[in-house]
Amino acid sequence: MKIFKSKHKLQKEILHIKNISFVPTMGGLHKGHVSLIRKSQSFKGKTLVSIFVNPKQFNEKKDFLNYPRNLKKDLILLKHLNIDYIYIPTFKDIFSFKVKNKIYLDSFSKKLCGKTRKGHFKGVLNIVNRFLDLIKPKYIFLGVKDLQQSYLISKHILKRKINTRVINCKTIREKNGVACSTRNKNLNKHQFKIASKVIKYLKNKKRLIKKKLSNFDSINTKKDLINLGVTKIDYIELINSKTLRKPRNKRENFRIFIAFYLNKIRLIDNI
Ligand code: PAF
Repeated sequence: MKIFKSKHKLQKEILHIKNISFVPTMGGLHKGHVSLIRKSQSFKGKTLVSIFVNPKQFNEKKDFLNYPRNLKKDLILLKHLNIDYIYIPTFKDIFSFKVKNKIYLDSFSKKLCGKTRKGHFKGVLNIVNRFLDLIKPKYIFLGVKDLQQSYLISKHILKRKINTRVINCKTIREKNGVACSTRNKNLNKHQFKIASKVIKYLKNKKRLIKKKLSNFDSINTKKDLINLGVTKIDYIELINSKTLRKPRNKRENFRIFIAFYLNKIRLIDNI
């Protein structure tokens, strides 16, 4: 396992490696990351994991400061997983060079998380664009818990004709149904239980909606969620994850997309 803090040293090392599988992370690694990494290792070639808590994608400074970090633990895990390369840039290292491609921000960035997290996706694309420029990976592995992020990264790659394939990986859940997320580390036991109730409620809701689509009433659904102990709901929407539009009939495949708060902790999911 080779750890790099400088892009020049990293680039020197990987310059001639053609088939790099890249797993970008912000650290605070969990079972979801492990699954992305295992998937990346099932492809031929070398695996490169980045760890960088990107300040540009946080719309609130406090959220950035409270984001769970544990580099020591992450490195032990990555060593155990037998990762080839780890890139842990400083802010200056990653933001102090001119990138070849301009960021392409698809209009879907204005929906869902884009409505309340101003500048978030621009920040995500900024860092991912830089990583792609430096690493030139054959594949990039992304979790579909952040489906909007993955979609927008795919659009950027397509539009800018970048030679990297996005591999979407399924959401990994805790035993109680809550999607694995670094932010879960900030939840107390009580909040973790509420999060689980939310997921159960949404799964059941989806089953009911499938029977009678017209019954989705976001106002009452929000009320139910508040009664379960949710502090605030940024959005709850039914979306066809292929067309990204509202489903028009019950035969269409859809997912319930949600962003909600438990006190100050914001969680997202799609069920
Ligand atoms: O999903 C994440 O952890 C981040 O948004 C990413 C893709 C590593 C960019 O900072």
